[in-house]
Amino acid sequence: MVTVVRDLAYLLASVLFIVGLKGLTHPRTAVRGNLIGSCAMLLAVVATLWAGGILSWAWIIAGLTIGTITGTVLALKVPMTGMPQMVAIFNGFGGAASFLVAGGELTLRLARGADSAGSSPGTSELGLQASVAIAVSGLIGAVTLFGSLVAYAKLAELKFTLRGKKYWMSSSIVLPGRLYTTALTALVCIALCVALVMNPTTAVWYWLLVLAACVLGAFITLPIGGADMPVVIALLNSYSGLAACATGFVLGNTVLIIAGSLVGASGLILTSIMCKAMNRSLANVIFATLGPSADAPSADDVYEGKVKSTSADEVAMLLDGVQRIVIVPGYGMAVSQAQHVVRDFANLMESRGVEVEFGIHPVAGRMPGHMNVLLAEADVPYDKLLEMDQINPTLSTVDVAIVVGANDTVNPVARTDPNSPIAGMPIIDVDKCRTVVVIKRSLSPGFAGIPNPLFANDNTLMFFSDAKKAFTELIAAVKES
Ligand code: TAP
Repeated sequence: MVTVVRDLAYLLASVLFIVGLKGLTHPRTAVRGNLIGSCAMLLAVVATLWAGGILSWAWIIAGLTIGTITGTVLALKVPMTGMPQMVAIFNGFGGAASFLVAGGELTLRLARGADSAGSSPGTSELGLQASVAIAVSGLIGAVTLFGSLVAYAKLAELKFTLRGKKYWMSSSIVLPGRLYTTALTALVCIALCVALVMNPTTAVWYWLLVLAACVLGAFITLPIGGADMPVVIALLNSYSGLAACATGFVLGNTVLIIAGSLVGASGLILTSIMCKAMNRSLANVIFATLGPSADAPSADDVYEGKVKSTSADEVAMLLDGVQRIVIVPGYGMAVSQAQHVVRDFANLMESRGVEVEFGIHPVAGRMPGHMNVLLAEADVPYDKLLEMDQINPTLSTVDVAIVVGANDTVNPVARTDPNSPIAGMPIIDVDKCRTVVVIKRSLSPGFAGIPNPLFANDNTLMFFSDAKKAFTELIAAVKES
């Protein structure tokens, strides 16, 4: 009876996961979708606890308490700009949980096997399916953990010094003989998986596999830099789902198998969308190493004597009498939390009869949909947000494009330099507008670490300021003009 009720609860939870995911496909239904998904997870957890298991309540309550406190503190403390890193690290924790549970189950079954065989070593209860699932869970879970830790460091733009040389984690860090070391580590992982499946009588193979897979995760993610991180984050997200799915097979837990496969599949779909947005194949992202080439022009070459700076009053004059403005937000808008004042500016211009639209690049910011989330939070109507493919063909008819803290996603080098870290990535072609106003604090590069010739173009004016301050001044200047 208990099993039947638990399985029915699992079935209901699985249906709710799918309904929740469907809700997440549109901004209008996303909050409800998120809530439905959370309720489904609560139902699955309650059903699992109610059905009982081998673990004592003391351990369960200890785990729940530590998890709840950590999650609540992180959610309250981490600023909005730190969300991408937090998502990356949560993916990693998902992978770690999967391989730890699989390792625990392996140890338990080995102990049970030894007991039933009168403590004779070399006996286990593991069938082929369970040992394959344990190996897959250990491999993918550990790759996810270390891949996510490196992704965290890259997204947080941490830096470190080695032998007197400064390295930025966000750029591509290439180890000597990179392809060989990675291929060798992958081979070691496969060999350890085979050893575990052929001889599932000791946990040693498993923990060696976890160790090798941790190294593999770091090796795969370290060289990926420039602008390719969106693809990696989506891929790690998918891995965390696949690891959970494998652990579901280890435990024979259907809701974990279904939830894991949903995360794995949606992560793969997101990976493919991100690859399309970057115009790169997955293999190219993982195996090619793009970085600023030695003969790439320096920032001085690109900018010296060519950059024209402007002020709020000048921009207000420029906006007098325009018919169409396109605002192109980027990561700087998130840093400055300027979305509300940007909305106020858009409303003000619209009240004066100007058509205002937003051009949204799929990888602007630091997480998928970053700009959509910020602008939705500021109640910017969704139909004003135009995707890159919709906005680009119309840009030559735009009077003024205002770039707010975007850099790589509007960098024309993507079209012209095949060796650049953003080579081939479609950009929002603001350089084709009549006038471009770029709001940022300095000439510092974006995530890809390269200069942007847009800032030195004849039709570009640089408004050097924090985005929120710039728009506040701009609103005052427009009202005065
Ligand atoms: P970025 O190229 O990263 O440029 C952001 C710009 O914002 C910087 O040049 C910075 O210049 C400016 N900025 C920072 N704080 C600011 C502030 N308070 N006020 C005004 N400006 C400020 O941004 P992007 O165009 O959005 O491109 C995103 C990049 O991140 C791409 O390379 C993308 O591949 C990568 N990435 C994306 C994701 C996802 S999933 N979206 C994930 C990881 C990485 P100053 O310092 O001079 O102000």
